[in-house]
Amino acid sequence: MIGIEVLLLFGVVTLLTYCIKYFWNRRRLYELARNLPGHDGLSFIDSIKFLTQISKKDYISKLLNFIKDEAPLTKVWLFNHCFIITKDARIINKIFYTPETYNKPSLLYRIFSKNHALPSLNGNEHKRHRKIINKAFTTKILQQLLNTFDEKSKKIILKIDENVDSGEFELMDYVGVYSLESFGKSNLSYETDYFHSELFDAFYKYMESSMDFMPYLVVGLSHKLLDFLNLGGEHGKIMRSIQKYMDDVIKSNKAQDDKSENSLINLMLDPKFEFTKEEIDDELAMTTIASFDTTSRTISTILMMLGIHHNVQQKVMTEIDEVYSTQTQPDFSLDFLQKFTYLESVIKESMRLFPEGPFIAREPSDDVDINGYLIPKGAVILISIFGMHRDEKYWGSDAHLFKPERFLEDLKFSFAFAPFSGGKRICIGYRYAMNSMKIFLINFLRNYKVDCSTKFEEIETEVSLALSFVNGYKVSLERR
Ligand code: HEM
Repeated sequence: MIGIEVLLLFGVVTLLTYCIKYFWNRRRLYELARNLPGHDGLSFIDSIKFLTQISKKDYISKLLNFIKDEAPLTKVWLFNHCFIITKDARIINKIFYTPETYNKPSLLYRIFSKNHALPSLNGNEHKRHRKIINKAFTTKILQQLLNTFDEKSKKIILKIDENVDSGEFELMDYVGVYSLESFGKSNLSYETDYFHSELFDAFYKYMESSMDFMPYLVVGLSHKLLDFLNLGGEHGKIMRSIQKYMDDVIKSNKAQDDKSENSLINLMLDPKFEFTKEEIDDELAMTTIASFDTTSRTISTILMMLGIHHNVQQKVMTEIDEVYSTQTQPDFSLDFLQKFTYLESVIKESMRLFPEGPFIAREPSDDVDINGYLIPKGAVILISIFGMHRDEKYWGSDAHLFKPERFLEDLKFSFAFAPFSGGKRICIGYRYAMNSMKIFLINFLRNYKVDCSTKFEEIETEVSLALSFVNGYKVSLERR
């Protein structure tokens, strides 16, 4: 019989060996991190306090708050994770275009994806998916989708009409449906009624509920274990609703005969690309989520900005009326959309102040020199798009104000604007999003004047996986 002492000794030796190996493998990380400027880091106790005492949705914004204005990079230790945080535009652009900083840290992206889809995939697997899925976003396909945006926006605007002269209402209830309907039709070849549905709720709450996982993932628990222990809170229920939707979408596509066009669903189900069931489910769900939250919140933000800044709204309306007075063809085209230059500057200014991707993260696949700073493999780089977009160094002393005119001038620091990120991992749907938002706004503003009782300085934002307004997106309408 083996004595308890022998077993204990064995356990201690195994643990010690593991620790020595762990610290030895990370010795470069510790050495290089020591030389980086910034915060000394949180102690073990402070890390526990960080994860347990602040609201889940504040994790990211609190981490971003560590940025020191005078230092281009700030480092913060949270448990055994070394975060390198920056809002410096030159460093951010270098990161976008450096092959060693192509990958995303699974620590953060595991929060909202099961790791089979573009937003969280890395390396060659990411490149393979991206090459195939890009076929759904070519100029030719985007041109074809304009009719869908036109049809779906007009349909939602008819519903919005019930709010005319009836006080303030929540824009997301309608614009969110527009986003889901147009994405459903164009990329999933699927139509259903999203209004006031459980499904709409699931998409609406997805990002926020994902944060429930954050403390568990930071201390190293896996998704499978979290599912098994039922620790995901409401997130599990939301995932089941979305999975059921994807099952319906796939079933309906299999029953359709015409598979000629390169829509996302057709590409994912094409046997020649050999996607697994998990990849199909995760890609379809993640792309729907990536398009839903971002486009609908940005449209809602823009309409609130116009409701607050009436002079800007007047200029947008004048532009729309002028362009339409010279327009002969009834359908939208890419060339036609280009004519709305002031509207485009309004969209850009709203995305500058309120970027829907407020932060982006990368994980170096090797030690890498970024503008003279050696960033160690194993660190997590947190890029604050929100911080860069509001930095007076790039945008002047009025950086905090809503002034679309700045985008009509030649921007000295145009590289400090990256609402869709940049480099090879730039948002795959950025042209889709711009077209979809423009068409909705044009159709909307041809019909209504918008007003908003919230003052610009009163808007409170939550910077989490996505950016949202704490008190929602409320406006009132008057017919033009
Ligand atoms: C206003 C609208 C949108 C904004 C502000 C936005 C922003 C972003 C940002 C910041 C990223 C992160 C890129 C990175 O980590 O470097 C991203 C990625 C992504 N977006 Fe968007 N997005 C928008 C609309 C859309 C739409 C409409 C779709 C789909 C039709 C979409 C699909 C994706 C996908 C799949 C990724 C992952 C790309 C990859 O890693 O290769 N997004 N987006």
